[in-house]
Amino acid sequence: MLDLGRQPRFHRPRDRDLIKDPGTLTTLLADAGFVAAKEEADELLARAAGDVELLHALLERRLTGEPLAWIIGRVWFCGVEIRVDPGVYVPRWQSEPLTRRAVERLPATGVAIDLCTGTGAIARTLTTARPSARVVASDIDERAVACAAANGVEVYRGDLFEPLPGTLGGRVDVVVGVVPYVPTPALPLLQRDTFAFESPLAYDGGPQGTDILRRVMIDSPRFLRRGGALLLELGGTQADALRDDLARLGYVDVTVLHDEDGDARGIEATLRSKP
Ligand SMILES: C[S@@+](CC[C@H](N)C(=O)[O-])C[C@H]1O[C@@H](n2cnc3c(N)ncnc32)[C@H](O)[C@@H]1O
Repeated sequence: MLDLGRQPRFHRPRDRDLIKDPGTLTTLLADAGFVAAKEEADELLARAAGDVELLHALLERRLTGEPLAWIIGRVWFCGVEIRVDPGVYVPRWQSEPLTRRAVERLPATGVAIDLCTGTGAIARTLTTARPSARVVASDIDERAVACAAANGVEVYRGDLFEPLPGTLGGRVDVVVGVVPYVPTPALPLLQRDTFAFESPLAYDGGPQGTDILRRVMIDSPRFLRRGGALLLELGGTQADALRDDLARLGYVDVTVLHDEDGDARGIEATLRSKP
């Protein structure tokens, strides 16, 4: 852990200054290279709630690069406050458009599955938007399962569809997932903080990054109703690589979802109405 007292780059401000003047904390964070220093300072001050020693402890953690969401214990996703426990993947704003699309495809009293749910952010957003729908989720990591449960998600621990109730077979309107899709060789290229703090389990999608995406595409028709939607986050040229497989597996209306830079960020497909 970083010892503020010994760091030549950081001058430990007097406790009084740190807690009373948000500007001091903002400057400290900005000097350390945090881009959203003001917002982070506000979050840390709110979490410390006037406790100077706690504020120093939180700041020390942040200066190591530990994700802010783990330190303050929450993040906002699609306008919904999500609890985030240390060790659990922090939901990214880049996944919000895919989630909103999943909301649009979910009827008011429909059924949805959120695979690889992490904190349960997507499942929780679906439930918030469609309170009469049934939304179930799964994750293989016990910390994620505990966190999703704390977020009020009906969550099961295990591999993809394996732990989910078999009674859902053929009844599901939406299968959505931000599953691991980073190609194994690209893992070391992830942001330093990501690589240092988060688990490869959340990212590693095999040699091309498509191993888990393909497994989901293959298994989803067992759960989806005819006309139901499959929505998966992906990147790079993965959508092109998967398009033929989707058609072969009985999906139609395959649409690639792009971000504001024009990069492929997701894929939406519909299970063909007739076998
Ligand atoms: C990229 S994170 C996404 C979490 C969440 N969907 C979100 O967007 O915030 C991927 C998640 O997949 C889980 N995971 C990895 N392999 C899995 C598997 N075979 N079955 C179920 N969950 C898995 C990890 O534990 C991690 O929580």
